[in-house]
Amino acid sequence: MLLCNCLPSAVLFLSCCLPTLISNVVAFNSDDVNQSSQKFGQTEAQNQIILDVGEIVFVIQSQSNSFHKKRAEDLKENILKQAAVSSKKLPEVLLIDELEPSQSAWTIFPAIPYFADSYGRNSSWIFFCEEETTINLSKLLMTLQKFQKSKNWFLGKALHDEESTIIHHYAFTENPSVFKYPDFAAGWALSMPLVKRLYDVLRRDPPSSDFTIDLKHEIALYIWKKLDGQELTHVKQFCSSTSSKAAECATTFNSGLPVCGSPVQKEDIFVAIKTCKKFHKDRIPVVKKTWERQAVHYEYYSDYADNTIPTTDLRIPNVERGHCGKTFAILERFMKLYFERTTWLIIVDDDTLISLPRLQKLLSCYNPHEAVFLGERYGYGLQAGGYNYITGGGGMVFSREAVRKLMNSKCQCYSNDAPDDMVLGMCFSSLGITPTHSPLFHQARPADYAKDYLAHQIPVSFHKHWNIDPIKVYYKWLAQDEEKQQHRQRNMKHEL
Ligand SMILES: *[C@@H]1O[C@H](CO)[C@@H](O)[C@H](O)[C@H]1NC(C)=O
Ligand SMILES: *[C@@H]1O[C@H](CO)[C@@H](O)[C@H](O)[C@H]1NC(C)=O
Ligand SMILES: *[C@@H]1O[C@H](CO)[C@@H](O)[C@H](O)[C@H]1NC(C)=O
Repeated sequence: MLLCNCLPSAVLFLSCCLPTLISNVVAFNSDDVNQSSQKFGQTEAQNQIILDVGEIVFVIQSQSNSFHKKRAEDLKENILKQAAVSSKKLPEVLLIDELEPSQSAWTIFPAIPYFADSYGRNSSWIFFCEEETTINLSKLLMTLQKFQKSKNWFLGKALHDEESTIIHHYAFTENPSVFKYPDFAAGWALSMPLVKRLYDVLRRDPPSSDFTIDLKHEIALYIWKKLDGQELTHVKQFCSSTSSKAAECATTFNSGLPVCGSPVQKEDIFVAIKTCKKFHKDRIPVVKKTWERQAVHYEYYSDYADNTIPTTDLRIPNVERGHCGKTFAILERFMKLYFERTTWLIIVDDDTLISLPRLQKLLSCYNPHEAVFLGERYGYGLQAGGYNYITGGGGMVFSREAVRKLMNSKCQCYSNDAPDDMVLGMCFSSLGITPTHSPLFHQARPADYAKDYLAHQIPVSFHKHWNIDPIKVYYKWLAQDEEKQQHRQRNMKHEL
């Protein structure tokens, strides 16, 4: 398999990142000014001279997939255009997918040494945002000026958990709401002194977890644990939606479902549902009562043929976990029977809840002739040459081309009970195919995510029936208006 370089190569960096134009306000760089003589909170007019747009390094959470690349490039152009109006020195705007190491730069930690080495002397802030974040540069500058740049700052729009959750390894079980982490959609920032400290600590004490699951929480937790309880400072000007208070917002977020043309036809999507005999009775009825009616081509794959559902027995012995054998058998069957007829394949679990109409819209943004492997991205072993994968529970979407490339390769399961999603991640990584992340797919239940985070999403999927009424969850979070209405009518008849 293809392993990424653990250490950034200086040559690669120099070739992909143009040096920042040198400022005409060098005298005001943090290194040169006696910051302790400037009292925090002095008037904005005085501060205005102190922070120049050119001292901010923008880092866009970009992706190499052509649709996402274009979105990130548009945002970069927009930032530079706004900067050109007010400043002689243009800021550096980096696309994170172009940084090294290419598989893991998106997790920020591996890019910290580069930020510290290349911008430590010239820049005051690293400002991170997503491709759908909208920035008003003059307001952002005014906002950042309120914080003394010579100090350690970790700024963002604060999220917190209402209950302890598996995606955060049940952190702060006693009182999960005490811990604040940034909503990346609103943008977040690190002052350069904090970046340097982080660099120092990372060298001595790198993150220990093998998995990257919810990056925003993991970064905040690392900073808090390793940097003497350094907390996120909530900044009300960082906004994640276009709300009534938009006037004070320096950032907003385009929270609509991306749509790039007419939705992909239902007929062009094949839905494969993984199940096994012991779940036929309690999980399949939920699928049938919720999203099954939105699918045209679908099959239930099991270790037991049950004609009442019906299921297809793939003749792979059921295993407690992993299901790699089953998933590869599904891929083979898709190649044989459905490849010519459909453009997209989605593999879900029997306890996945999904909106197929939203998936149809979302897929209009992707080119099925490219190898697209889409869903919620997790990382494994990224500190040391690992790989990214699409976590299975939220649904794994494959373009036909991605399936073709995968099946033409010799990549396969190392055992029937190997974790299918991770093996697929490894295989695609070895083929040079980067998984495409969409935060609209969810490996866990709505209750596992912060309320304010879900508030700016139009979710495509959730996963797991544990401790919830999955039918209620479906109708609350995923159903179309017509479905909700039909559901109410059915319920009323039922009650009469
Ligand atoms: C940063 O400043 C130093 C001098 O202080 C200069 O040599 C270097 O080229 C600058 N780098 C960038 C990226 O502007
Ligand atoms: C910075 O300014 C303060 C207050 O004016 C002064 O006490 C201090 O000595 C100065 N520090 C340096 C390094 O110039
Ligand atoms: C930024 O906000 C200011 C103040 O509301 C407004 O005048 C300006 O047009 C905005 N700039 C952009 C690029 O939206």
